[in-house]
Amino acid sequence: MMKSNVAEILKSGTVLQEIALKGWVRTFRSNRFIALNDGSTINNIQCVIDFENTPEETLKRITTGAAIAVKGTLAESQGKGQSVEVQVSEIEILGDSNPDEYPIQPKKHSFEFLRENAHLRVRTNTFGAVMRVRSKLSFAVHKYFQDNGFNYVNTPIVTGSDAEGAGEMFRVTSFEDNKAPVTEDGKIDYSKDFFGKETNLTVSGQLEAETYAMALGKVYTFGPTFRAENSNTTRHLAEFWMIEPEVAFMDLDGNMDLAEDFIKSVLGYVLENCKDDLAFLDQRLTQEESKLPQAQRSDMSLLEKLKFVADNNFKRVSYTEAIDILRNSKPNKKKKFQFPIDKWGADLQSEHERFLVEKHFKCPVILFDYPANIKAFYMRLNEDGKTVRAMDVLFPGIGEMVGGAQREERYDVLVEKMKAMNIDEKELWWYLDLRKFGTAVHSGFGLGFERLVQFTTGMGNIRDVIPFPRTPQNAEF
Ligand code: 4AD
Ligand code: MG
Repeated sequence: MMKSNVAEILKSGTVLQEIALKGWVRTFRSNRFIALNDGSTINNIQCVIDFENTPEETLKRITTGAAIAVKGTLAESQGKGQSVEVQVSEIEILGDSNPDEYPIQPKKHSFEFLRENAHLRVRTNTFGAVMRVRSKLSFAVHKYFQDNGFNYVNTPIVTGSDAEGAGEMFRVTSFEDNKAPVTEDGKIDYSKDFFGKETNLTVSGQLEAETYAMALGKVYTFGPTFRAENSNTTRHLAEFWMIEPEVAFMDLDGNMDLAEDFIKSVLGYVLENCKDDLAFLDQRLTQEESKLPQAQRSDMSLLEKLKFVADNNFKRVSYTEAIDILRNSKPNKKKKFQFPIDKWGADLQSEHERFLVEKHFKCPVILFDYPANIKAFYMRLNEDGKTVRAMDVLFPGIGEMVGGAQREERYDVLVEKMKAMNIDEKELWWYLDLRKFGTAVHSGFGLGFERLVQFTTGMGNIRDVIPFPRTPQNAEF
């Protein structure tokens, strides 16, 4: 007897073989037709019960959410909506699901409700599709780098340094409540803590990745990062996964080429390998948007957007050019921006980024050469003395997808910068060593994986593209 899953069976299209399947009941109608899903594909397989020869007791237990095993033959379907169906000869209930208590009913649930039931929401079509696409995307990430000669580096999760210098970190300590020793001046004495120093969950693996790039040449990280920023937005998580390539002997232009090529490549991979799930998500989004006023709908469907990004060049624009565009833009003149742009040097808010990407250029945009004082300490200072070789990749509907830079490789310039930004040289002695021993031009970037999943799946809220989101006031599950 051939054992298989629903995806393989539906793909094979052959009929009349004996098959055995296990899965969960999505719906059961007319005491005859089970829509069975086993997670291998968004598509259910119809299982037809011989109800006259099935005990009443068993029929009653075929409820939405129940786990079952069926055996039978695969036949051409008489009904509409599927080409084949299983004519069931044997059915076993493996795990009941009480219909009065099971929260996931065969009807439309709000995403808020499903977030409260995040342990069950992946049993819905939407979340099943999103999480399968997420899995394929993460494979595509590794595939891209491995195919292109990068080494995967696992950078530490517990760290003593604040890579971004933003101070938005979660402390890691083994002190017991109210029992932390204090120093003479009343501060907590971390020299007596587990690691003998103050430690936090990492906000980025970049600094450690740089050390490896300066030996292995091309490296990437892909791991969890943590930020204790109190941002309750549809694009921020307190725990998210970041992809950070770092490459020796590569300048900012190479970095932009890499980011663009990488994103196009992974999108191409899922377009090719997640056809059913993306077709479903495409329809879902079109339906969602049809409820909105015309002006708020996108010009392109999800699939069109993905193909557009995969096939078209990103627009590369300097910060200075962007400021000019923004300053002269309609919303700025009509005072529609919450943060009006009047001077060079202003930090760009998401409203400005979205204007550039969605209204002005209508494609992904790479902004580069930002003012030094709004960017992190490690970015290479330009000859003008006021801008740094930073780059952000901005995406429609998402805003910042990537943040990266050519790194400051000159020892003296870096030390000066750290002093000016109050970054402890002693703490980062090892980072400075890279500039002492065989320093070289190098660059890299960080891409927020969930933002990539959001763009790819068309989901509006980042909490709906990670299995168990961590956000302010929320760490259930
Ligand atoms: O721009 P960021 O802060 O850059 C860095 O951390 C650099 N050290 C990366 C590097 O050069 N190696 O973060 C990088 C990306 C952002 O562009 C965004 O996509 C994502 O990480 N990101 C978040 N995603 C979800 N929730 C948050 N709170 C995020 N903060 C940043
Ligand atoms: Mg950034």
